[in-house]
Amino acid sequence: MKERKILNVSLFMIAFVAFALFAFKPIVNYQDDWEVPDKYKKMENTVTDEDEAMEIGAELYAKHCKSCHGKTGLGDGPKAAELDTPSGDFTTSEFQEQSDGELFYKTTNGRDDMPSFEKKIKDEEERWMVITFLRSLKE
Ligand code: HEC
Repeated sequence: MKERKILNVSLFMIAFVAFALFAFKPIVNYQDDWEVPDKYKKMENTVTDEDEAMEIGAELYAKHCKSCHGKTGLGDGPKAAELDTPSGDFTTSEFQEQSDGELFYKTTNGRDDMPSFEKKIKDEEERWMVITFLRSLKE
């Protein structure tokens, strides 16, 4: 009887640890290991007309990004469940602390489930507008 109890407790603990790892996966795997070349890190956003950029950036975001990243950037879009890697949370300061150039690099090149937008949003100026819009998602 006593052995059974120990077994139950062990099973419970294994289940608990497994659950904790699963639940905190987005935090543990946070995108800080996505290396961005220095050249991109220092790039400046080419947007000059902020209002126009916000308008066009919002449209492009709704068309190309919302399905995974969600309406407000929480990573809770309708396609989110199909992704192998969490898509990040655009509202956090960890995310927003990245330079425009870093976000531009990631958006342009993609990685794993994150598509490359080099061809889908061909115009670099438009890609910068999306980055401008991403700034408005900060909490
Ligand atoms: C098919 C789903 C999907 C779509 C559509 C998508 N993304 Fe992503 N995105 C992801 C995933 C998954 C990741 C995490 C990739 C990784 O870490 O390897 C990601 C990561 C990112 C990151 C880096 C996040 C971080 O924390 O540093 C940025 C920036 C980004 N996406 C911008 C965009 C923009 C802008 C668009 C639209 C133009 C877009 N994404 C469209 C799935 C998507």
